[in-house]
Amino acid sequence: MLGLLAPEGNRTKCPYNDSALTLTRSLPDPVSVRRRLLRWYDRNARDLPWRYKQGEPPDPYRVWLSEIMLAQTTVATVKGYFEEFLRRWPSLGELAAADLGDVLHAWQGLGYYARARNLHKCARLVGGELNGCFPDTEDGLRQLPGVGAYTAAAIAAIAFGRKTMPVDANIERVTARLYAVATPLPGGAKRISGLARELASHSRPGDLAQAMMDLGATICMPKSAECGACPLTTECLAAKSADAARYPVKAPKKPRSVRHGMVFWARRGNGQVLLRQRPEKGLLGGMMEIPSTDWRDKKWNLTEATVTAPVTAAWHPLAGVVRHTFTHFHLELTVLTAEINRGPKDSLWCLPSRFSEYALPTVMKKVAKHVSDYSS
Ligand code: ADE
Repeated sequence: MLGLLAPEGNRTKCPYNDSALTLTRSLPDPVSVRRRLLRWYDRNARDLPWRYKQGEPPDPYRVWLSEIMLAQTTVATVKGYFEEFLRRWPSLGELAAADLGDVLHAWQGLGYYARARNLHKCARLVGGELNGCFPDTEDGLRQLPGVGAYTAAAIAAIAFGRKTMPVDANIERVTARLYAVATPLPGGAKRISGLARELASHSRPGDLAQAMMDLGATICMPKSAECGACPLTTECLAAKSADAARYPVKAPKKPRSVRHGMVFWARRGNGQVLLRQRPEKGLLGGMMEIPSTDWRDKKWNLTEATVTAPVTAAWHPLAGVVRHTFTHFHLELTVLTAEINRGPKDSLWCLPSRFSEYALPTVMKKVAKHVSDYSS
């Protein structure tokens, strides 16, 4: 630690952590950070299906597809989906020509279905109007459907070698620790992302970004920081503190609220159940559902709920509730069942054993499981 004291003339207020303390450690040197990271990456990069070997030209279609999938989903989950998408739609043109229903269906389980709609929309736009060429700048990429700031930076760096840094949770954490940023998230995010972007590499921007992602995923992890194995230990301010894993500092989370709904499990004699499509806009937009009331803060009673049922019938509540957690709320659903003969026009009949043929969100699969567990 002593060796890391900044020279007297170099002592300064830390510009990164808002503390009034005089900084007595030298700040990380970006040149050394880049060099160390790239050397480490060359030996330790994870072998992931969307990665290309050094010297191989990256295929923007593969980079775009993987980054859209990775934006809200873990690497472990994305691997299989990425390979399956490429098997079915090996090129942008093939994805653009695909049926939206097939794309939504193949997306099942990745969550955030608006991404799948935008993926398809974007494939059609780039495959058509843009003659199959993705824009090669961050600003240009940002104009595409479903491409936000993070994804634009990731594609620009990885596919087009632009000097930029996509700041995902791994890169945010590595940077917050490297500079010991004390401002809690979410307020501190802007500062951390500014510092991360300053680290962008001119020569190998995609590799540097992915090196930071890999470091965050394998060494500088959310609950533990394996500083002894980290190529940045000598540069990292958090590594010199007693508890590196305390960064990034987080403001206490607001508890998630609980919403309530009732779902209508309408069955006919041959065992088929009524399904309908959710509105295009909003949560689980365009996916299939077992018809449901709105999901609201106040509990529903049977009389109120049945007024909103897709058909008039003798609805009976099943015991128990189905619980599911979305990003911002917990949902509790009561299942109402009835035998009916005819459904409304905007619905279809499907045997529960064939639900997998439709883009049915996880919460609805839980409803089907609940019915099978609780019905006699
Ligand atoms: N998360 C987002 N993009 C990634 C990538 N290219 N490699 C590993 N993890 C990622």
